[in-house]
Amino acid sequence: HAPPPLTRGVVLASGALLVSSPGSIWGMVEGDDCGKCELALCSEPKDCPAGTVLDRCGCCPECGNVEGQICDLDQGNHFYGQCGDNLECRLDADEARFGEVPEPQCVCKSQESICGPEGKTYENICQFNKAYATKRNISMKHKGPCESAPVISVPPQDVQNFTGNDVIFGCEVSAYPMPHLEWKKKGSKMFLPGDDAHISARGGPQKYGVTGWLQIQGLKKSDEGIYICHTKNKYGATYASARLKVIDGILCFVFFIWM
Ligand SMILES: *[C@@H]1O[C@H](CO)[C@@H](O)[C@H](O)[C@H]1NC(C)=O
Ligand SMILES: *[C@@H]1O[C@H](CO)[C@@H](O)[C@H](O)[C@H]1NC(C)=O
Repeated sequence: HAPPPLTRGVVLASGALLVSSPGSIWGMVEGDDCGKCELALCSEPKDCPAGTVLDRCGCCPECGNVEGQICDLDQGNHFYGQCGDNLECRLDADEARFGEVPEPQCVCKSQESICGPEGKTYENICQFNKAYATKRNISMKHKGPCESAPVISVPPQDVQNFTGNDVIFGCEVSAYPMPHLEWKKKGSKMFLPGDDAHISARGGPQKYGVTGWLQIQGLKKSDEGIYICHTKNKYGATYASARLKVIDGILCFVFFIWM
């Protein structure tokens, strides 16, 4: 059934904005009557993040819709626009299940990750193309994630707390292949947590890296020191450290009274 006229007008306006390129504006002015295609009258759209598609008249090139953008399920329709390179228009079945009116969206056909020339891993070819839309000449390094030595993206932070309280150090590492992550206290050869019951280490793999946490419960004055997150894979190793300061709870209380 057809949507009410007002809704249709609003949607049409936003649809026109999404695909606004010289080609499509020309097409809309012409209405459904496309007439003869004069390629010479088309203007080449520039820097389209998902490449170009043909406009509603099948004549001029216009920017294709990008990943996540609403699109026309039917190839013959030219309302929201057609998806660009490596993308297809799909209905999200999950949305319908949650009682929403499902909207067709451009989805990347491949979910294989891509290693960019600068060593950054992109989720898929569509994300890579979007990042390099203005530098079409640059090609990917290879399919799959970039292999690299670990880089600590979020290092542990200095903390202080009172005796008896708890602290947590975090360490977030990106690397591929999956790096190892270990904790040590400066001056000790032992890896933590060892057999010390008040210290525990947790963590888990991320898509291209690993995140680790070191928790120290019931702080003692002797816990004070520097804690180091060590990480390595076959391409290299690195570390980052943070200081733990343990404040004596009773001394501090006396200090506050005295103030
Ligand atoms: C594209 O790459 C080729 C070969 O690497 C180079 O000769 C050419 O100048 C580049 N073009 C642009 C626009 O960067
Ligand atoms: C200090 O200890 C308390 C109680 O264990 C905890 O809730 C709080 O997050 C700790 N503060 C810091 C900065 O770790």
